[in-house]
Parts: sequence; structure tokens; C-alpha cells
Amino acid sequence: MFASYFGESMLKRAQEAGLVHITTHNIRDYATDKHRTTDDTTYGGGAGMVLKPEPLFAAVAALHPTPTTPIILLTPQGRPFSHAVAQELAAHEEMVLVCGRYEGVDERVREHLITAEISIGDYVLTGGELAAMVVVDAVARLIPGVLGAETAADDDSYATGLLEGAQYTRPEIFQGWAVPAVLRSGHGANIGRWRREQALRRTWQRRPELLLTAVLTEEDKRFLAVLAGEGGSEKWKVKVKGEKCRRLLTYFYFSLLTFY
Ligand code: ADE
Repeated sequence: MFASYFGESMLKRAQEAGLVHITTHNIRDYATDKHRTTDDTTYGGGAGMVLKPEPLFAAVAALHPTPTTPIILLTPQGRPFSHAVAQELAAHEEMVLVCGRYEGVDERVREHLITAEISIGDYVLTGGELAAMVVVDAVARLIPGVLGAETAADDDSYATGLLEGAQYTRPEIFQGWAVPAVLRSGHGANIGRWRREQALRRTWQRRPELLLTAVLTEEDKRFLAVLAGEGGSEKWKVKVKGEKCRRLLTYFYFSLLTFY
């Protein structure tokens, strides 16, 4: 599972360049019984199998993590993964990711081996492997040099606290749809402002709650107040529970800002 993803593209190049070092370990190799058992039935009864503590403790011990190395369990019960969490992890020299399987892991693993738990979203995967790959990918691209240009990750959605706005490439006109004139104008300041407004608009339309924590200039706030006056987006009509409420709250927030 891991070899195919880590053996391609950016992560492959990052490893070849010595910027990232990834190793995978099969906990079955650390099981000591004849059948190399890694799971067993649940105490107290119930469906499903639980990962045993011994092979997990032995596998992590064999890696000789330092006392400050995060030992992270991928689980739907964990802390929601985000850009901020990826940044925290990128600041560490190393991390150990433990992939849960089956119905879960023995609680003593959580209590005495694991130092953090991460979830990549509110859904349940069949195992933690995909989640571990997501974490490795998101963290690795924050390591200087991995993306090529040092600043490449700076404008990403979330890095600025905003969603990234629209982008275009050639041809100038595709099926009658033209690239916005401002982008072809060569006017650096106007392009910069246009991009910023696109990012603000997209964030306002899709994830208005992000605006409450984003770092905004006075000019940004004035632009948002105009957007708030326009009301919600017609195009982005996905009904999400609580979305209306978030938009209303943000609307009031920016109405207040304009008022003051
Ligand atoms: N394992 C199973 N589901 C998961 C999720 N949503 N996040 C992290 N690990 C998981």
C-alpha cells in the first residue's frame, strides 16, 4: 500500500534528495507466537477484533523514537487533521504513525504508547493506512525544498487562512471563455489585489467561518463587507448542516465591522 504512493512523484523525489526519510514496518513481524497473531477478540464480548498491544509496543520500540518523537495513532476518534496540525508535525525531526486496523486497538496502546491521535475526517476507513499517507504527504510538502521553490506552499489554501482563488493557464480563450483581463494586463499590483479578492470571495462563499480566524487587512474587511451585503453565493448551493448559521454569523460579524 505504502510503496506505490511513496514511490511516485513529489515524495519519491523528496526521498531521493534526502529531504524526507520514510520507512514502513509490518507489526506482524513483531508478533512472537507461531501464527504471528496481531489481533484478538474483544474482552466482554462483541463483534470484531482488536489489535493486541505486544506487537505494537515491540514495533515502536524497535524504531528507538526519542522522548519527544510524536507517536501518532490514526483513528476516527483522533484530533481533526488540518494545515495547522501538519505544520506542528513538520517542526519535528521525526514522527511515528501507527495505523489502526480491524475494530480498534487495545486501550493500553492509547494510554501508554501513543502520544497523539489524529483523524483525517468524520468518516470511518477500513484502516489507518490511507490516513497515514495523507498525513505524510501533507507534512512532507511543508519541508523546505520538497516542493521545489521554497515559497510554493505559502499561497496554498489554508496556509493563508483563506481558500485559494481562481487560477488560469493558456489558452487565453477556451470555448469562448476568456481569461480575466486583469490577469493579462501585466499590472502587478492589480493582479495581486484581484487574486486576494478571489481568495476572499471563494472563502466567503464556501467556508465563511475561516474568515473569523484569517489575518485580514482593512482593505480585505471592506471587500468582505461588500460581499456580505451581496448575500450568499448562488452558485455554491451545497446544503451543509449549519452552513446557513455560519454564514449568518459571519454576515453579522462583517456587518458589525462595517458599522464600526
Ligand atoms: N482510521 C479509520 N478511519 C480513520 C479516519 N477517519 N482518520 C484516521 N484514521 C482512520
